[in-house]
Amino acid sequence: MKRIAILTSGGDAPGMNAAVRAATLVGRAGGAEILGIERGYRGLLEDAFVELGPSDVAGILREGGTILGSARCKEFHERTVRDRGREILARHAIDGLIVIGGNGSLTGAIHIADPNEIGSGRPLTVIGVPASIDNDLGLTGLCIGVDTAMNTIVEACDKIADTATAHDRTFIVEVMGRDCGYLAMTSAIAVGADLALFPEAGKKESDIVDQVVDTVVAVRKRPSRRGRRVIIIKAEGVQIQADRLKTLVDAKLKARAPDAEPASIETRVTVLGHVVRGGRPSAFDRLLGSRLANVAIRSLLAGETHKMAAWMPPVELPEEVGQRSKFDPYCWLVDLKAVLAETENLISGRSSLARWRAGAFDEIEDALLL
Ligand code: F6P
Repeated sequence: MKRIAILTSGGDAPGMNAAVRAATLVGRAGGAEILGIERGYRGLLEDAFVELGPSDVAGILREGGTILGSARCKEFHERTVRDRGREILARHAIDGLIVIGGNGSLTGAIHIADPNEIGSGRPLTVIGVPASIDNDLGLTGLCIGVDTAMNTIVEACDKIADTATAHDRTFIVEVMGRDCGYLAMTSAIAVGADLALFPEAGKKESDIVDQVVDTVVAVRKRPSRRGRRVIIIKAEGVQIQADRLKTLVDAKLKARAPDAEPASIETRVTVLGHVVRGGRPSAFDRLLGSRLANVAIRSLLAGETHKMAAWMPPVELPEEVGQRSKFDPYCWLVDLKAVLAETENLISGRSSLARWRAGAFDEIEDALLL
């Protein structure tokens, strides 16, 4: 019988529990013994293992966060620390590891099961499951948690829009996403925002300020009062603090129209922060977590390693990058190293997808402001 350990690591994401549940149930049905590791790689180093059975995962589908807990563990970048982790895994006779998390967590996954580092030690296989509200991982259309985060942002912005409309105000709403503007871009469309600011655009501070000011001026010329509120969604990765942006924008608006009413120059800032990461997972995130984890655990039991279960529309990938999963036609099993290389391209704006997103968004924005 195989012994498989599951961990959730990095920023938690709604839907991680669905993945833990599916991996546990499908793994046990496949004849494996399943253990959970609490608090990610940190918990591994602290030997925090728990047995996982059907009663442990009953009812967790609907819970946000992760029942296993999560942590960031910078020390895991060090080989000696990973050696300690491997010793602990070997002591628990673990054959395979499911890592549910984002960029940093999957980097840890590659290294912990690296045959060169393992040497003559106990063999270990690893499969990743992409989970990050930022949607900043390469070679997967979506990560677990993105859909719920988007819904949370939309709900918050709808509320902000009510009060913004009542007072004819401008709001800058800052959303999480680390260096990736995906959440800002997509939620701006879903909210009907007037502008989205995202790091991939690569704009300098003065251009960002001008862009916001131009948007406010254009929106305020709309004939209907109800259409004159301004909602701007700013990704946290845009290198200007929301409060500083507000100050610079207000000063410029004041200079342009010294006699304007206060509402037309008084910008308000709402930073949604960690609110975006919490909450009950949407139906889609429950489905995504379940399906990706199903593919991950089955692939692990079938002897695969150093791969990530990925969610993609029907596309074709070069054979050396990945193969469509035989367990689910919407899922792929992609090479973990290729994932991390593409993630870097995505974050730095070099990938064709990042360039497409930024370009497509410029066009959408022009149309919205007409
Ligand atoms: O990666 C997920 C994320 O929520 C980012 O959007 C954000 O920048 C970061 O984590 C916040 O991390 P922490 O909760 O450790 O402050």
